[in-house]
Amino acid sequence: MHNILKNKKILLGVTGSIAAFKSPMIVRELTKLGAEVKVVMTPSACQFVTPITLSSVSKNSVVTDMFDLSSQNDGAWHIHLAHWCDLAIIAPCSATTLGKLACGIADNALVAVFMAIPRNIPILVAPAMDTTMFEFPSTQKNIQTLEEWGIDIIPPEKGELASGLCGLGRLAEIPNIINEISTKLVNSSTGLPAVLDKPLEPIEDAIYKDKFQAELELTQMKNSIFEQKMKEFFKNKNVVVTAGPTIEKIDPVRFISNSSSGKMGYAIANEIAKYTQNVILVSGPVNIPKPNGIQVIGVESADDMYRVVDELFANTDILIMSAAVADFTPKHKYDNKIKNSSELTTLELMPNVDILEKMGKKKKQGQILVGFALETENEIENAKKKIAEKNLDLIVLNKLSDSNQVFGSDENEIIILDKSLEVTEFGKAKKSELAKIIVESIEKISTKP
Ligand code: CTP
Repeated sequence: MHNILKNKKILLGVTGSIAAFKSPMIVRELTKLGAEVKVVMTPSACQFVTPITLSSVSKNSVVTDMFDLSSQNDGAWHIHLAHWCDLAIIAPCSATTLGKLACGIADNALVAVFMAIPRNIPILVAPAMDTTMFEFPSTQKNIQTLEEWGIDIIPPEKGELASGLCGLGRLAEIPNIINEISTKLVNSSTGLPAVLDKPLEPIEDAIYKDKFQAELELTQMKNSIFEQKMKEFFKNKNVVVTAGPTIEKIDPVRFISNSSSGKMGYAIANEIAKYTQNVILVSGPVNIPKPNGIQVIGVESADDMYRVVDELFANTDILIMSAAVADFTPKHKYDNKIKNSSELTTLELMPNVDILEKMGKKKKQGQILVGFALETENEIENAKKKIAEKNLDLIVLNKLSDSNQVFGSDENEIIILDKSLEVTEFGKAKKSELAKIIVESIEKISTKP
């Protein structure tokens, strides 16, 4: 019966349920049976399984963001994707996504695509959550609503749940999900009930013996070792991260600044906050929501930032200066708005304090100082010089090129140089992924002589 999957196009939605870690296995099984699979994920799903894993197993790019420029495809990418598939399935489907589908709240890529699926394309939904959440009246009502609309529910199974409790809520076993997909395809292609040409194939054994399972477990083990290592490293350490631009007032309404978005610094602070609560984010003016659980000290000018960092530094173990501090400030700041008629044609500037350099001079044994740089020529040589001049342990060099627009983008390309002058170059990646790499490099440098 699974032959029906050959050359079929399957759209898999993955949501933020702990069972999301099984989604690569679903992709793997479908592709082994000849299907082409494309994956769309909710932002919460990315907390449980990485888009890179799913794009590697599906050999297709994975959509996670409604507004990601690379997936726009004439501006109606969600419609194209919805019309592309022969069958769509959400596995695992969280209570939140059930609710969003039932109420038509298309505020993420997954719900937008699934709402755009033409009515003749079968949709399957495999809920997975803790028993109490599954039994909660709104969940049951939403499931009933979806069923009334012709969406097939693959019921969860009883067993041990991630919470340690036992009950109904486990994602249906993968062979069952594959069978449900095949059956639905048989039904929808013949219009007749599925006729099983042979008993259900014993693919369960194959799945669990599969090398892929071992790889997955290895990845999970590596992640958990990484997390342990990081928690150990950050234990009892105070971390300060600076982010965003500074603004240097000319008069009450005009200022000098730069186009730093603050995304990189915020991503670093968020990454470190996974391992310790002792992280303070000193932020210039940005348009990023305050991260949960991180103390944020808002500043405007380079001088404000200097004062805050200088006060914190004595009690700081790691200072990461990712802010794009303005190098110059107006010599004279006007109290009142400069009039058009003032005939002012020149603005006299003076250099700001170089915070990184100052902290480099104050740095004591054991303190770690990380700087950022954006060079347009002789980048490695200049970065090496900066390590020495500013007494840094690590410098993150932003690569500026036509294909890498550092400011404002969610992605970046970096080179990391450490105090032993080891140079490591990284390809284009999301700033959140680069944050992880930077944090890991900080841990590594701390153990280097
Ligand atoms: N920085 C700082 N204080 C300043 C300017 C920059 O602490 N007044 C820090 C930034 O946070 C960043 C690094 O220094 O970590 C950036 O250095 P770079 O942009 O290369 O600027 P400069 O050191 O001023 O070097 P250059 O003059 O070559 O651009």
